[in-house]
Amino acid sequence: MTVRALARVNVAAIERNVARLRRELAPGTGLCAVVKADGYGHGAVAAARAALAGGASRIAVVAAGEAAALRDAGLDVPLLVMGALSPEELDVALVAGAEVVAWSEAFVAAVAARGGGGVHVKLDTGMGRLGTRDAAVATRTAEAAAATDGVVLAGAMTHFATADDRADAFMAEQLARFAAWAWPLRAAHPGLVLHAANSAATLRDPAAHFDLVRTGVAIYGLDPFGEDAAAAGLEPALELHSYVAAVKPMQAGDSAGYGRRFIATAPTHVATLPIGYGDGVRRGLTNNADVLIGGVRRPLVGTVSMDNVTVEVGAPAAAAVGDAAVLIGAQGGERITAEEIARRLDTINYEVTCGLLPRVPRVYHRDGEPA
Ligand SMILES: Cc1ncc(COP(=O)(O)O)c(C=O)c1O
Repeated sequence: MTVRALARVNVAAIERNVARLRRELAPGTGLCAVVKADGYGHGAVAAARAALAGGASRIAVVAAGEAAALRDAGLDVPLLVMGALSPEELDVALVAGAEVVAWSEAFVAAVAARGGGGVHVKLDTGMGRLGTRDAAVATRTAEAAAATDGVVLAGAMTHFATADDRADAFMAEQLARFAAWAWPLRAAHPGLVLHAANSAATLRDPAAHFDLVRTGVAIYGLDPFGEDAAAAGLEPALELHSYVAAVKPMQAGDSAGYGRRFIATAPTHVATLPIGYGDGVRRGLTNNADVLIGGVRRPLVGTVSMDNVTVEVGAPAAAAVGDAAVLIGAQGGERITAEEIARRLDTINYEVTCGLLPRVPRVYHRDGEPA
């Protein structure tokens, strides 16, 4: 299919990434697949289904509406909404039958007042975002959940701030704080599910696994350390495609794009790909990315505009109208990863795939076969 911009998502890669992550886990430890932000840009419903097929036992999102959308799509599995919830959003989450995260007795009362539901109590062991820093408050919140009719104390959790930095020592501190609070709570409430690890922590330290890991980025085949996902046995699930819509000869002094930020210094050709920042190809890639055409890296030249980018293809022109172009993914023997794009933009791979905008259709396949 030739379209201006297309994200091809291999659901089999997500399945295999989940199965690969599960091999890190002790028998009995579950994997919760995190599909917030539309499955990190891959599509939440397809990502959730693939993760479940790969062995995930639960799904997590951040927004109540995300949980409702998964239910509307027919997903009938345990759902956890990890984010902060306003009263209106709490209604939506509970109506969707999702479990929610609490760190105050008042929130537990709000859950009860809205008909009840499952609650995971969050201790802030150092992330400094959501959850209570006070272990006594966390324990009181858990006791209130356990004692309140209609409310189920389902889990106890924390979240690491620095798991993606292999050299850091803070994760161990957070882990110790969590363990000191969570194990006694579990002793008092058998069946309570303890969870802390994101993808990086899952790969970094088995002591962080507890009963359940909450893996997001790695299930998509993105490396949680920003390194080479292939070296970690992970397969990128998403490729970003476009095509050559025009090829223009350029003489020395001719320019391409807004602001003339590319001016040819010798005869060459510029290919125009109809994909731009309106699709999620960030403007920061201006004169700062490669694109694969004919299995060869070609430099993106000139300003990324809303709907087009320009790529230098040399003289004689090494590209023709209609040629396939890959902005993320493999072509021939070459590949461009989300990690590479992230480095060029001084950001993280998460933001690269989350930043793909709705104008880009997602097409799902299973190792090349229609999914
Ligand atoms: C609370 C919580 N748990 C788990 C995750 C998954 O993290 P990752 O995508 O790094 O695996 C996130 C995502 O940032 C999160 O906010």
